[in-house]
Amino acid sequence: MDTQENYKNPLKDIDDWEENLKERYPAPDTLKKEKEAFRNYVDSERAETVREFYRLNHINQTYDFVCKKEEEFLKFNKKEMSLWGAIDFLNTLVDDSDPDIDLDQLQHLLQTSEAIRADGHPDWFVLTGFLHDVGKVLCLFGEPQWAVVGDTFPVGCKFSDKIVHPEFFTDNPDNSNPKYNTKYGVYSPNCGLNHVKMSWGHDEYLYQIMKDYLPEPALYIIRYHSFYAQHREEAYSHLMNSKDIEMFEWVKKFNPYDLYTKAPVKPDVKALKPYYEDLVNKYLPETLKF
Ligand SMILES: [Fe+2]
Ligand SMILES: [Fe+2]
Repeated sequence: MDTQENYKNPLKDIDDWEENLKERYPAPDTLKKEKEAFRNYVDSERAETVREFYRLNHINQTYDFVCKKEEEFLKFNKKEMSLWGAIDFLNTLVDDSDPDIDLDQLQHLLQTSEAIRADGHPDWFVLTGFLHDVGKVLCLFGEPQWAVVGDTFPVGCKFSDKIVHPEFFTDNPDNSNPKYNTKYGVYSPNCGLNHVKMSWGHDEYLYQIMKDYLPEPALYIIRYHSFYAQHREEAYSHLMNSKDIEMFEWVKKFNPYDLYTKAPVKPDVKALKPYYEDLVNKYLPETLKF
């Protein structure tokens, strides 16, 4: 990769961010001892690129940047696709990493949704697991990794030191802007997250695409599943209203399925397809605007 490309996309694989999350928030029962030696090697090599990825994310995600991206992408004039078309499109995302150890995007989605289904949750929850990362198609529209994946956080108010690598916010222009660098910034106490702008990425983008079709808890999961500073660290409760607090129970319930169901066993796509086709048809229109 040339320097320009590194600046845009330091990660070899966009899923390296989620892999790194598992180091920060390990599963309660860490039983993967056999693979540990290999893992540690991969993890140490990955640590540097993940750090650089966070640095770019934290210096570039400003209030104005989010406004600009919303203006650009919430016109939904990029592509019209069915959900299946979008997943096939997402699967064309070829990463610069070892295909033997990495699952493709469809497999991550199916592993998440199948684990939710196996636990007997309602069908909309299964569907949410199945589509929660489809917003990552942003990468295929030429967006840099740091504007697609990564932890999300509010912009327009003080960056919490509970966000991973808070030191990188020193070089974010909003950090020295008195309009944005106070506890509440442009917001008011408990104004509700619906009034709060989050850093731009695949979560907000997919929420905006799905908002007319899925039940409220599903929409919260899609919109806030990368908001670790709240669903893991509770650093922004002062911006939330009672509805947000109630709905975040679903976001928390979803997180382990997202993080800890990535096994090297590949789901049988062909066998599962009829079930998911019915599920998608139950909730979604034939085509969606991206
Ligand atoms: Fe995600
Ligand atoms: Fe995910």
